[in-house]
Amino acid sequence: MGDISKLLKTHIQKAKPYSPTAALRLLKPRAKGSGFIRLQGNELPFGISPKVQQAIIDALPEAHLYPDSSYYDVMKALAEYTGFDAKALVLANGSTQFIDSLYHGFINQGDSVLFIPPDYGPYRIRLRICGGKAQLASRPPPDYNWDFDKVIDAITPETKVVVVVSPNNPCGDCTPEAGLRRLLEKDLLVVVDEAYYEFADSTLVHLVKEYENLIVTRTFAKVFGFAGLRLGYAITTPELAKYLTKVIHHFPVNRLTAAAAVAALKDKEFLEFVRREIRTNRVYLEQELNKIEGVRAFPSQTNFVLAQLSKPGLTSGKIATKLLLRGILIRDYTGKAGLEGEFIRITVGTKEQNKAVVQIIASAFS
Ligand SMILES: Cc1ncc(COP(=O)(O)O)c(C=O)c1O
Repeated sequence: MGDISKLLKTHIQKAKPYSPTAALRLLKPRAKGSGFIRLQGNELPFGISPKVQQAIIDALPEAHLYPDSSYYDVMKALAEYTGFDAKALVLANGSTQFIDSLYHGFINQGDSVLFIPPDYGPYRIRLRICGGKAQLASRPPPDYNWDFDKVIDAITPETKVVVVVSPNNPCGDCTPEAGLRRLLEKDLLVVVDEAYYEFADSTLVHLVKEYENLIVTRTFAKVFGFAGLRLGYAITTPELAKYLTKVIHHFPVNRLTAAAAVAALKDKEFLEFVRREIRTNRVYLEQELNKIEGVRAFPSQTNFVLAQLSKPGLTSGKIATKLLLRGILIRDYTGKAGLEGEFIRITVGTKEQNKAVVQIIASAFS
């Protein structure tokens, strides 16, 4: 064979891979164990619940068998949890699996997807891989307020899908329902990513019962701590659920994760503990960061806090490095996701972790 690159698609060759945890490899072995405090990936600081751990152990003897392709037990538990019929639900190997599936299912060459940055980068990265075009209707700095007139104006005849991240990553706020309704009235598919739903005061999921063009995606990675186990789900109309199920790879969820999910949904005590603890710790993190002159923490409805830094010479890179040297990982957000200025994003950790992070940042700014 002569030149293998002739067989490759040019737009995929040119696309940059999304590898948020790649750098952590350099920090091994400490990052693998308890050495590093991981406040960079919006993971759960408490781990999975002991009942979920037991369910995985109990499922191990049958790990060699394919999963039940209807995922009956998970669907039943998820139907109870969400209040939607199982016919309106679709499972995926993490909610990010829906990104490609949505593009496979709805985007032909030349079609466009409208994004409203600041938002979650992988939606745009995967669109390049899938060959669609990105349109942007940004929320303007410095406050990143919603401007739905601008969003509506940005829609063209090529726009097939609009992606809304609510609560937003990285800003942390929820999308106003009235604005979302204006989008839903249009002739396009609206995807609402509610990865952080459990930490927020509101949801937009009830609109699925009113509109036939809405898909809400959620994940077990955050509140249930399944970032490593991988499980996401979508809530939509039975018609769109049937369509999406055809696009998603068969057996998207492995047997151990499926067993873990049923146990996680039953363990209400753990869920309430996590929600309560994260909310309390989030308020602490927001308040303490805002007390530091030169730091502005955005109000958050998630398990992370976005902070803008405005002290000359004190860049987000310097702060991230300072924390890294003290064994704490956070996310340097400068130049990312549609933000303008110096930004860091900190996952809400345990009380002790939050205290440590605040102390180090405060001393850098003093
Ligand atoms: C907005 C948003 N959606 C989806 C995900 C990832 O979900 P999953 O791990 O289920 O693929 C994240 C993770 O950080 C996120 O911030």
